Amino acid sequence: MAMVKLNAAAAVVLSLLVVVAVHPAAADAGGDWYGKKSIEETVRKEVEKAIKHNPGVGAALVRLVFHDCWVNGCDGSVLLDKTPYSSSTEKAAANNIGLDGFDVIDAIKSKLGAAVSCADIVVLAGRDASAILSGGRITYDVGTGRKDGVVSSAAAADAVLPESTFDFAQLKDNFASKGLTQGELVILSGAHSIGVAHLSSFHDRLAAATATPIDNTYASALAADVERQKGVQHTDNPAEKNNIRDMGAAFQSAAGYDAAGVDTAAVGALDNSYYHNNLQNRVLFKSDWVLRTDGDAAADLAEYRDNATKWDVDFAAAMAKLSKLPAEGTHFEIRKTCRCTNQNYYY
Ligand code: HEM
Repeated sequence: MAMVKLNAAAAVVLSLLVVVAVHPAAADAGGDWYGKKSIEETVRKEVEKAIKHNPGVGAALVRLVFHDCWVNGCDGSVLLDKTPYSSSTEKAAANNIGLDGFDVIDAIKSKLGAAVSCADIVVLAGRDASAILSGGRITYDVGTGRKDGVVSSAAAADAVLPESTFDFAQLKDNFASKGLTQGELVILSGAHSIGVAHLSSFHDRLAAATATPIDNTYASALAADVERQKGVQHTDNPAEKNNIRDMGAAFQSAAGYDAAGVDTAAVGALDNSYYHNNLQNRVLFKSDWVLRTDGDAAADLAEYRDNATKWDVDFAAAMAKLSKLPAEGTHFEIRKTCRCTNQNYYY
């Protein structure tokens, strides 16, 4: 997987970094402005450095916001390692397969110490990764002042995180349970324009017995590439790129991709290409495809396909809302290190 991430998008992301570097970090309104500004600058520098070194980690940081904030609110619970007292933290959840970016969070924490919680670092880093991967088009304020939780459970994460095999009603209910709308479900699913997925997350789409509509030529090209990647990545569960845009010209041609309206040179970019792909049945997950099965959601898909700027703006707003999901629970702290609670056990 690391190899896939390293190779993907390097040229484009490096050029995006140049664009974003001249954008000042957004200042939070009110409070200790200068303190927050220096925190935000530190986070931005570390995220830029990490993405420059490994473009794939940007997608991981965007996903980390979703997977932290969805489980007990934005409380850094996704970062906790298991301990002898707590053998199964969120990291072990099946729905957290492929989660990454923890080293970047650690590097930021080592620079900021007690000045900022791990929960804040997750949302700040995800915000900066979104800005960098979109070439500065996606920007939003997230504020600071979150506290770190002391509870982390794989079972709880699997109970609340949506699955790639969900149907539309399940996805809608799942988002509603967190106060997010159907429209925000469609908007945030556009994050699948970046990053990778393991075969186990989309194998149902390749099996005749379980396949939801998927373009036949795309499915065949994907199945062939999966077999190739098994050898390259030395695993029976290889990762593939979420976005057919990022798969290269030969794959796109074999998969009959109509790239009209998609910037195929923008490999690795966070943009509205997901909507072009979805409306061509060329997306990996059932949970992506099912958005087409509802009339209103399908209309939104078409709108975001046709209006890139609107998606940038709406995605930024939805990420800001996601980043503010309140932490649940009764015990909070600012952790000394992000991988364990200060007393090294969980309530
Ligand atoms: C709507 C329900 C969602 C489902 C069912 C879902 C499911 C998944 C799955 C199964 C993967 C691949 C994991 C793997 O096999 O390694 C994935 C990857 C990803 N997801 Fe989602 N996701 C959803 C929503 C979101 C949201 C709301 C965001 C961001 C705000 C997001 C961002 C990402 C990113 C960026 C990746 C690639 C990560 C990487 O390359 O490291 N997803 N998602």
